[in-house]
Amino acid sequence: MYKLIDGKKIAAEIRIDLKRKVEEFKNKFNREIGLAVVLVGNNSASQVYVRNKIKACEEVGIKSYAYYLPEEIDEKSLSQLILELVDNSDIHGILVQLPLPKHINAENILSLIPASKDVDGFSAENIGKLCMNEDCLVACTPNGVMKMLEYENIQTKGKKAVVVGRSNIVGKPMALLLLNSDATVTVCHSKTENLKEECKKADILVAAIGKAKFITEDMVKEGAVVIDVGMNRDENGKLCGDVDFEKVKDKCSYITPVPGGVGPMTITMLMYNAYMAADKT
Ligand code: GUN
Repeated sequence: MYKLIDGKKIAAEIRIDLKRKVEEFKNKFNREIGLAVVLVGNNSASQVYVRNKIKACEEVGIKSYAYYLPEEIDEKSLSQLILELVDNSDIHGILVQLPLPKHINAENILSLIPASKDVDGFSAENIGKLCMNEDCLVACTPNGVMKMLEYENIQTKGKKAVVVGRSNIVGKPMALLLLNSDATVTVCHSKTENLKEECKKADILVAAIGKAKFITEDMVKEGAVVIDVGMNRDENGKLCGDVDFEKVKDKCSYITPVPGGVGPMTITMLMYNAYMAADKT
């Protein structure tokens, strides 16, 4: 019998704790924690994410500064705004929602955000520190996955973890976090040979591929912990993950649902990072 890892419940508990910490910060320093959220253009998924991020700020008592910019904005004007936010001491964290329009070089923009305000944990400095197992702001989704494993008392030490996906946002930091927590880690990707066999070796399987129901029951070991980072639409337009949940669940010891699994943890870890960024200044 599998156990469902309830991301909504875990996230809600962490937010209650965070709300208290944010309140303590305000009382101690007599100032707000500020998070700037920058959205360029009209990508509907990004609009939903940004709305949820701002809502989460309200919930935990963080002051959000939202910037909704037109699709046509040029790189120079966007850079100027980011540099103003960097210089603004009321703003502890800066988040630029991705993807940016094609005419803007996202790397150039993100490189303007100093590691200390990089609440997404995307900067080379934060990724480098994570690689060296040093204290840093950690990418929200993989950090949320680690919190879920901790919450459920799932041991990583000595376990075989397989991460499917090698993005800078999820796959790579996920692999580093698991490695830092003493798992034996394999990273698989679109060029991996014998993907099924690799996945089948996993005690902990993290799917971060971006393809609906990609992980099927023949790829999962009996008793595995399966973490689904995907957020896709199936053939009927229904939200689903990268894991074929119905087919895989009975082989698992633990599995995350989509929705209600990793998703709620990501935004919660963003709030956590904003608090951490403020607490360090
Ligand atoms: N677009 C999709 N996921 C993310 C994320 O975690 N952070 C940012 N900034 N943009 C995203």
